[in-house]
Amino acid sequence: MSTENTAPKRLLTFTSGGDAPGMNAALRAVVRTAIHSGVEIFGCEMGFAGLINEEIFPLDQRFVANCIQRGGTILKTGRCPEFLERKTRDKVRAFLAKQKFDGMIILGGDGSFRGATILREEGGPPTIGVPCTIDNDIAGSEYTIGFDTARNTALDAIDKIRDTAFSHERNFIIEVMGRASGFLAVDVGIAGGAEIIIIPEFPLSIEDVAQKIQQRRRNKMASIIVMAEGGKTGSSVTLSEELKKRTGFQYRVCILGHTQRGGSPTAMDREIATTMGYQAVLAILSGQQQKMVVYQGGKTALADFPTPEKATRFFTDEALFKMNQILS
Ligand code: F6P
Repeated sequence: MSTENTAPKRLLTFTSGGDAPGMNAALRAVVRTAIHSGVEIFGCEMGFAGLINEEIFPLDQRFVANCIQRGGTILKTGRCPEFLERKTRDKVRAFLAKQKFDGMIILGGDGSFRGATILREEGGPPTIGVPCTIDNDIAGSEYTIGFDTARNTALDAIDKIRDTAFSHERNFIIEVMGRASGFLAVDVGIAGGAEIIIIPEFPLSIEDVAQKIQQRRRNKMASIIVMAEGGKTGSSVTLSEELKKRTGFQYRVCILGHTQRGGSPTAMDREIATTMGYQAVLAILSGQQQKMVVYQGGKTALADFPTPEKATRFFTDEALFKMNQILS
């Protein structure tokens, strides 16, 4: 690990990638900790895109006032394919040097951390990352900011769907987000009493799902399948059509989509985000670089950025998955 003796004096921070509830709480902690430590702190909007456009501005206490409870990100965010181009990064690096930034704190996901790593390798400033994504899938951290809010949002939707499912004796497939991982689907499925949970890590074929339905049909008049968007049974719409053909039961589909990304962060997300933001500034001021603040064993810690080959964390708790099969 390389460290630097001179503590940064001028930091840039921004939110990057998909938004996640709690990003504002983390940003507030970053800004206020930096100011408290006598460090100048700047921000830019829309992630790397704002940096490419050289649209930076100073952040102060007031900028982050009254944002801890807000979903989304007051700095706005985005994914930025242009940053993959060397000439774009050269321009950004020159700009950062001209502006005398000696550190960056990025609130985002593994793609953003990869961008920061390449920039550093090419002579850019050191970076500390704060992992934010509702998917909870960044390798090296047991928790990412936004996950708790997203699972509660999805659970609230399932509870509502259950009411109508019961009233009409209807079956539902509820598709949740999660990219290639099943964390959101498993938690939401268990807490929502789903009959079947479909995730990419423990794939089920359409035939498997149809069989499970046939076996359990005896008493149940309405049931809920929770499916991760990355589940390998095809789309939720295709699954409903195939299940109708194979079992004769009709399944209505509800894709929760981006509702899971918004909303006021839960207490858990606010607290973890605040701690991570605070720790990120302490880390960069103590000379750490190219690390992210992670959550491990109920505490924050520092870990290396994930490698591109192993950037995604997958759900592996087969026992928990099996428990739901028994309970349902
Ligand atoms: O990574 C967060 C996430 O919400 C995933 O769950 C989902 O697959 C993806 O982002 C959606 O991305 P976009 O907002 O670009 O549609």
